[in-house]
Amino acid sequence: MTIPFSPELLQDLADQHGTPLWVYDAATIRNRIAQLQSFDTVRFAQKACSNIHILRLMREQGVKVDAVSRGEILRALAAGYQAGGEPSDIVFTADVLDTDTLATVVEHRIPVNAGSIDMLHQLGMTSPGHAVWLRINPGFGHGHSNKTNTGGEHSKHGIWHTELAAALQAVSANKLKLVGLHMHIGSGVDYGHLEQVCGAMVDLVRATHAAGHDLQAISAGGGLSIPYREGEARIDTAHYFGLWDAARKQAEGIVGHGLHLELEPGRFLVAEAGVLLGRVRAVKNAGHNHFVLVDTGFNELMRPAMYGSWHGMHVQRRGQGVLPATRDSVVAGPLCESGDVFTQGDGGVVLPRPLGDAQVGDLLVIHNTGAYGASMSSNYNSRPLAAEVLVDNGQARLIRRRQTVEELLRLELEL
Ligand code: LLP
Repeated sequence: MTIPFSPELLQDLADQHGTPLWVYDAATIRNRIAQLQSFDTVRFAQKACSNIHILRLMREQGVKVDAVSRGEILRALAAGYQAGGEPSDIVFTADVLDTDTLATVVEHRIPVNAGSIDMLHQLGMTSPGHAVWLRINPGFGHGHSNKTNTGGEHSKHGIWHTELAAALQAVSANKLKLVGLHMHIGSGVDYGHLEQVCGAMVDLVRATHAAGHDLQAISAGGGLSIPYREGEARIDTAHYFGLWDAARKQAEGIVGHGLHLELEPGRFLVAEAGVLLGRVRAVKNAGHNHFVLVDTGFNELMRPAMYGSWHGMHVQRRGQGVLPATRDSVVAGPLCESGDVFTQGDGGVVLPRPLGDAQVGDLLVIHNTGAYGASMSSNYNSRPLAAEVLVDNGQARLIRRRQTVEELLRLELEL
């Protein structure tokens, strides 16, 4: 079992705070940050886990932050990130600029990583001289699912690579200040693509330089995988950095001066730091399947239902710790929907797997849920958002209290 918490601690936290409950480990996050220290800037893609207290921890470790919405910008500011800075504390990355977000990036002078040429025109009209990055879709991509592949012609993301010249013209025409080029080809990528990605970045730097534009930085985007299944390979971060560093050096040869190298990971920094706790509320059989029903569903952890993602899990019992995995079980949540199953594959097919022989009252612990867990939660079935706890140096601290149903209803009743 590869989670950073003892069964006793998880039992205590579930008793104290109730379930469902998200629990994060600060030491694991610090460890992952340290593994990436060769990069000039590590910029946390906060969409993976945007709790303000997690952002504070990132900031204390010197990690910068990416925001993809006005809400994420306000979170970053609330966590103590400053507007401005060199390189900028906060970068806004998106393919569209809604009017409220445009006003916010202009007010705080937050650099915009533009995924469409229209964004450049809209920004230029309101904020001449504004700092911009260009997010380029190199024409190919990869991801752990088609839904997380952000490159190629089926992806809505980024400026298509053959449109680079037009984007650069839009930068000049709108008197914007070009900071750098950015590429993020997908999430949960296969590293076989890495040399191709680095090569594409060097080609883009060459084309940008040839068009008479200077650059200060390049960004490798995010996408670094983590081993969700036992035995899956762990990324060699030194090798990863080496390939990008070589690309940076080639690019520096082209532009004739130093270039700042950024990385923008989300999952890698937080996924393995988190677990989701649910309480077993019913067990039953249906034909060949043995169901374990818990009090947490896809409104909390959406990844299995959304991508057929695999998460390790275990059952533990008060006073007995982790139970040996002796019974093939399908683990499902409380939602009024058949797809509310944590043990499923692509297309919603249920995949029983060996787990402890669960009883009502046992704790189900779902592993590696620090990334795209709480941040993708919803209020489906009118369920309030779950609480979050951060464990640091043996101390557990509530970092988001549980939402109440009354708070949900108030949005409609207070009109
Ligand atoms: N940069 C950009 C521009 C992105 O769009 C993303 C992720 C990242 C960085 C961070 O990617 P990471 O290092 O976390 O792979 N909900 C999906 C993942 C969607 C990722 C969206 N963009 C999941 O649960 O797997």
